[in-house]
Amino acid sequence: MKQTLIAMAIAILALAGCQKDEYGWVKTGIDRACSQLLLTAERIDDTGQMPRSIWVGYDLDMLSHQLGKSKEEFKDSLRAHPSADKLGKLRLCGIYDWTSGFFPGSLWYAYELKGDEALKDAAIRYTNKLNPIREYKGTHDLGFMMNCSYGNALRLSPSDTIPAVLIQTADNLCSRFDERIGCIRSWDFGHWNFPVIIDNMMNLDLLFNATRLSGNPYYKEVAIKHANTTMPNHFRPDHTSWHVVSYNSDGTVEKKQTFQGKNDDSAWARGQAWGVYGYTSTYRETGDKTYLDFAVAIADMIMSRVQTEDAIPYWDYDAPAGPDTPRDASAAAVTACGLLELSTMVEDGQKYFDYAEKILKSLSSDAYLAQEGQNEGFVLMHSTGSLAHGSEIDVPLSYADYYYLEGLQKYMYLRGLKYNEL
Ligand code: GLY
Repeated sequence: MKQTLIAMAIAILALAGCQKDEYGWVKTGIDRACSQLLLTAERIDDTGQMPRSIWVGYDLDMLSHQLGKSKEEFKDSLRAHPSADKLGKLRLCGIYDWTSGFFPGSLWYAYELKGDEALKDAAIRYTNKLNPIREYKGTHDLGFMMNCSYGNALRLSPSDTIPAVLIQTADNLCSRFDERIGCIRSWDFGHWNFPVIIDNMMNLDLLFNATRLSGNPYYKEVAIKHANTTMPNHFRPDHTSWHVVSYNSDGTVEKKQTFQGKNDDSAWARGQAWGVYGYTSTYRETGDKTYLDFAVAIADMIMSRVQTEDAIPYWDYDAPAGPDTPRDASAAAVTACGLLELSTMVEDGQKYFDYAEKILKSLSSDAYLAQEGQNEGFVLMHSTGSLAHGSEIDVPLSYADYYYLEGLQKYMYLRGLKYNEL
């Protein structure tokens, strides 16, 4: 009996040892993320702003090569070069920037993953800074801003006041919905009549939540109409998507273009990631297999089009490939999240799980994961914001960090892992 117990204890210890070896990369990712986030939370607390990126400039020859255009052709689209005193420094943003919800959201995921109360305190503090956005109607990005912050707050630290914030924000998002067109308007700037970008699929989760919280089906109906209009108009026969589709007021398509991609007909990497995540969410919320089949088709397209060894895509799938082609770690992280959820919905889901695991392992390696105290406090390196504008090329981005942490959270859940067993 005693021998059997000893043998069992040895087996359990050996298993725990294997787990430690097998998932050491997960622990490294979580630990590094937690310390970076706490460092940043302390550093910027009195600025009233959120971390977005690092200020970098651009090289016109490189842009010309990547865009396949002469400098003359794209010079009017370029953002101002940051001043010399800013270069390499932390780029903050105000609360009305589309990225403002990602830092509070990252703090929530980090808290969920590690259980450290300091992360929770910081998450609450930074989430509350976004409260005025509940009154804002100026963008479709309200879902990113409020669902990633307040949505996670409600999930992890429920309070009576949060549902009203999310419902009010959802009302404001719905005020941008046009019944004739069947879509939520994305932007209020630019030369388009009614621009809708593929990114907008990510704002639908706020509406699904609002229906759950209020019992009012309207929010979900708007989300479904938006997804239904986007499916035939934003996607090409090969399931890559256009970035921007603008509609005439009668609902016909005005233009199909890009804003951040290589050219109108290219497959901008992050856009493909928003698409697979968005249609996976729409299936989760509706149970309508049309969306599942669509998400599967986008996922299969992504897995066949991304040819990099580490599965971290170039900034645009159609960019000229080479060792210096900027990657987009943010697109990879969003893709990993979408594929992890999709893997639970289909019989052959293992291939999506394996691909997402490969992405998360790559992002957790020294090639992408920053060393503690480096990278201006961000977790990941090597994302691209908008190469077409010479903006945020090969930098950390707050949303790469957010979706990396969401990916780790989903991975841990699906593998049945606990932080203290890693
Ligand atoms: N939603 C803006 C972006 O993906 O860059």
